[in-house]
Formats: sequence, structure tokens, C-alpha cells
Amino acid sequence: MTPPTALDAAALDTVDSDRIAAHLDRFARLTEAGEGCTRLAYTPLEREAHAVFAAHMSGLGLLVHTDPAGNTIAELPGDAAALGTGSHLDTVPHGGGLDGIAGVAAAMEIAEVVTRRASARRRTWRFVAFAAEEGARFGQACNGSRMVAGLTGRADLDRLADRDGRTMAEAMTAVGLTPDRADEARWAPEDWHAFVELHIEQGEVLQSRGADIGVVDLISGSTRLRVAVHGRATHSGGTPMHLRHDALVVAAECVTLGDRLARDARHHGTRVTVGRLEVEPGSITTIPGAVDFSVDVRDVDTVRQRDVARRLAAEFDRIARSHGTSVRVDVLADTSPVLLSAALAGRVRDSCAALGLSYRVLPSGASHDAQQVNRITPAALVFVPSRDGVSHAPQEYTTPAQIAAGTKVVLRTLLRLDADA
Ligand code: GLV
Ligand code: MN
Ligand code: MN
Repeated sequence: MTPPTALDAAALDTVDSDRIAAHLDRFARLTEAGEGCTRLAYTPLEREAHAVFAAHMSGLGLLVHTDPAGNTIAELPGDAAALGTGSHLDTVPHGGGLDGIAGVAAAMEIAEVVTRRASARRRTWRFVAFAAEEGARFGQACNGSRMVAGLTGRADLDRLADRDGRTMAEAMTAVGLTPDRADEARWAPEDWHAFVELHIEQGEVLQSRGADIGVVDLISGSTRLRVAVHGRATHSGGTPMHLRHDALVVAAECVTLGDRLARDARHHGTRVTVGRLEVEPGSITTIPGAVDFSVDVRDVDTVRQRDVARRLAAEFDRIARSHGTSVRVDVLADTSPVLLSAALAGRVRDSCAALGLSYRVLPSGASHDAQQVNRITPAALVFVPSRDGVSHAPQEYTTPAQIAAGTKVVLRTLLRLDADA
């Protein structure tokens, strides 16, 4: 085994934005029809993307395997506790081609640079494409990374289901994974030294401040609710206004209440979103008899996050009763905010300074795999700017040069961490 050496500065110069752009283009082609990129969790398209990642890494000579949770892990073996980098390859419906993918493309480029230059390493290096990070299909985010962190176990896979009622366990089985062995995906803390994820910012702080890099200190938590309102479907012409039990009128009041609550000055930083709403029977001439909608409550304050979710559930009940309807509120998923390792963030800031890149320390409003991995080993999250702050939409964009700059920050940080005692 090669001895620890000083940082291989020349390796940083070989990070290539064209190669990163080529990886991104390849993944962008793996999509359902329609605008933007649609590659949902635990679908054949997500598995195809993992196969592309695996083929690239095998081609570089790394040891590659897919764990029972569907995470694909490529390893360069070493003699000391591991360093890791990576992100996810699934998307939301009609999302962009960079959320998660940028971090995986960065990992592919880092693996290429490290293997081509044969930089002396001491530690094991692992490159990870996490499965099912987006909560868009099953409600809960970060499923692959939650399984490696032991936060989601076999029993949860029968509880979480998509809109068609297909459980996560069934979806996993359908794409050849082994949910019954999901608990074996868990990582052992003693096997790890640190993990550094690259991700697009998905907000506009970096662009508006003209900063190259974001160093994340805190990641928001989220509480997700599924709300079912039951009213009475009847004739839109024949039923006078005072005899209606309109489930959509109730849902509309619930939606605006959530928006109002989150805009209240006491909730500075709270975000409430209703992103999905289904109306039954969905006919122009029938009063809506049932409405099903989702609520996503995000906050960096763990107490406020849960208080808002509880308060919304109580208020929804009050609103429903006032219209002679009923409501059922289920908690789909609940993840706490996470404070990332301050020491590791300091190492990332050192790398920015050494590379002459400007940075800002900022919190993340979105969920990330690093948030879950931080339970196992110190984790850092490195942001690159998002044009106009747009994400989860086809217009999501960051230049390849900006992603390459973030990739260099991650690589330099890993090279330094490799030499830690
Ligand atoms: C992940 O993209 C999230 O919804 O925060
Ligand atoms: Mn993401
Ligand atoms: Mn996302």
C-alpha cells in the first residue's frame, strides 16, 4: 500500500468540466417522455442510471456492488477508514437533470482523476449513487441513505406506498432489489472517516451573492402529511349553497391557512407547501365529494417544524367540521433537521480558500443524503450555484464549469482527509 503523501495538486488541475457535462448528458437521456427529466425512485429508469454509474466505475477498475436498498457503491480499497462522496440519480416528475446527478457526476469524475493519476491514497474511497432520494414517489425522502443510516428499516418498506398503492417493498422487488435484506444495507460507523456530498444549491443565495461555493451548516427537516377530506358529491346545479359539503372548499381553506401560517413573522424560516391535490369525482357538474392532498412542512427548527404540523392538523379538523365534512390526517414521513459536522465544514472552507474560490456558509432548505449519512460519519455538503434558484423543474441549470469548481473542492477536501491520522 502506498504511504500517505502530500496533496497531489496536479490531480486537481485535471478535473474536466467536459467529462462532467458528458456524464450529465448521458443521464439526462434516461427519462420518461415529457418536459424535463422524470426518473422516479425504484423504477427501471432509475436502475438504468445506476447501471451507467456502475459501468463507468467498473471501467476504471473499481469494485462495484448494489446493496439491497438499491444504492450503488464503487470502492477503491485502502488501509484505513473510508472516505465517501456521491449523491442520487432519481428525480422528481418533470424535474431537472442536476439535482443529485451533479453530485454523482462529480463522484465519477473524482474516481477518474484519482485512478488516472494514481494519486497515492491511504484510505478506502467509496463513490455512492444513493437510491430513491426524492420523496416524490413514496412521500419519504432519502430512502437509500436512510437505510444505510439505519433510519428506515424493513418494516417501513411495507408502510410507505406510492399513489397507486404500490408499497416500496413491492417497487423494490419489481426492479430486482431485495427489500427483505434492506437492514443489511446499514453502514458501520467504525468503517468510515468522512463523507462529502456535492449538490446544486436549489436556491438563489449563491447567485445573488456572487459566491462560487456554498458550505452547508444545517439541513432542514421535513414533516409530510397526507390529508383526506370527505364531503358529499352531489349535483352542482341542483344543490343550493347552504346544503353543500364541498370537500374542495375545505381543502382550499386548508391550503391558504398553511400558506398564511408559514408567512407569519413568528414562523420566519418555516415553509409549508401543498404540492399535490386530487379532487373526486373531478367533474365540472358535480360538487367535489373527496379531496386528497399532501402537505410538506420544512424548517431548520425541529420544535417549530413539529408544532406547525400539529397545528395544521388541528386547524384542518376545525375547518372540515365547519363545512359539515370530515378530515383524516396521516403523517407520511418525518425527518429532523440536522446540524452537519462543523469541523468537516471547516475543512471544506479551507479547500475553497486554497483553490481561490469564494464561498458562503448557508443552511439547506432541501433534504439531502448527507443529512442521513451524518448519523454514521461526519458529513459535509458542498453547494454550487443554481441559476435563478430554480430546481425540481426543467429549467434547473448550473454551468459545467461551476460543477467542476465544486468537484475540485470535494476532491481537495478528500485528498486532505486521506492524510488524517
Ligand atoms: C429533496 O429533493 C427534497 O425534497 O428536499
Ligand atoms: Mn437532491
Ligand atoms: Mn430533489
